[in-house]
Amino acid sequence: MTVKLATSILAADFSRLGEEVRAVEQAGADWIHVDVMDGRFTPDITMGPLAVRAVRGATRLPVDVHLMIVEPERHLDAFARAGATHLAVHVEACPRLHLALQRIAALGMRPSVALSPATPPGQVEYVLPIVGTVLVMTVEPGAGGQPFIPEMLRKIRALAERRAALGLTFDIAVDGGIGPDNAATAVASGATVLVAGTAVFGAGDGAAAAVARLRAAAGQAAPR
Ligand code: DX5
Ligand code: ZN
Repeated sequence: MTVKLATSILAADFSRLGEEVRAVEQAGADWIHVDVMDGRFTPDITMGPLAVRAVRGATRLPVDVHLMIVEPERHLDAFARAGATHLAVHVEACPRLHLALQRIAALGMRPSVALSPATPPGQVEYVLPIVGTVLVMTVEPGAGGQPFIPEMLRKIRALAERRAALGLTFDIAVDGGIGPDNAATAVASGATVLVAGTAVFGAGDGAAAAVARLRAAAGQAAPR
């Protein structure tokens, strides 16, 4: 599978959000990652359907929405109406996970499931056949700019092995602290999507250079 780059707008300049989104699209990003936080599942509040609608209007790329909220099942329709292409719910926040993922698919979005660092991959074993993406958090959900947690490589490998054993093709996305220094290792472990915020929007020398650096780093290792 080719490695995809999902740029997280949490690190973008919100006074120029449209420009920032167009810049990473021009630079070759594959998805625009939108981090929704409610101040309950995570300490801070960030953004909601209005931000998704703004991103939807600024790009043709898939809008990859990451719900770091409690009771996500209450908000699925709102994010579908706002234009989300993919919708990820956290297994830790969603007791009726199988049903929620089925409803996300029925609303026309790619169903995705996210795991916080302490959550074992086995907790999503029985929804693997109905998800398009497993989002492996490589930092604690809640903020950009945190350091990558290397123990998560074992989780990525375990999920890649289950994917092969079950003959499935879901994407494994890694999210948090991803940059040129760890992209190759993540890909070699089985990741097919790199989510990056700070490494792209905080790079200092512009989106094109940042995206090119990440792609070059990721290209150094083909998935096992
Ligand atoms: C963290 C978010 C991540 C984060 C990634 O809770 O889910 O998507 O924005 O940002 P960086 O790449 O800065 O770690
Ligand atoms: Zn995220």
